[in-house]
Amino acid sequence: MTDYTVEFVRTGEEITVSGTETVLSRCIEEGIAQEFSCRVGMCLACSAAVVEGEVTQPAARGLTDEEAENYALTCMARPRSDLVLDRGKYPPSIGKGAHVGDAGDDTASADD
Ligand code: FES
Repeated sequence: MTDYTVEFVRTGEEITVSGTETVLSRCIEEGIAQEFSCRVGMCLACSAAVVEGEVTQPAARGLTDEEAENYALTCMARPRSDLVLDRGKYPPSIGKGAHVGDAGDDTASADD
């Protein structure tokens, strides 16, 4: 399987991640302080903005389809190219509760 370079902006850290492992698992192995919690793609704690490159993350259920184009949940994301990621950047839905498995926007009532 192909190995990819993953660079983190602001810290300059760089790791090699194969296409079969997640970015988070390599961060943990390399001692990089990547935040995480659930490790199942729901809480968004491990989010990073994708500055360059492409990931596959079909199990990243906490992201909308639109968000998945610009953010990686590192616990689910596997590289499909070399990557530049900005850790600690969170998608807009993190403030709306959609990431915890709600049926939708928690600001809307059932009567809307
Ligand atoms: S650790 Fe919860 S979404 Fe990745």
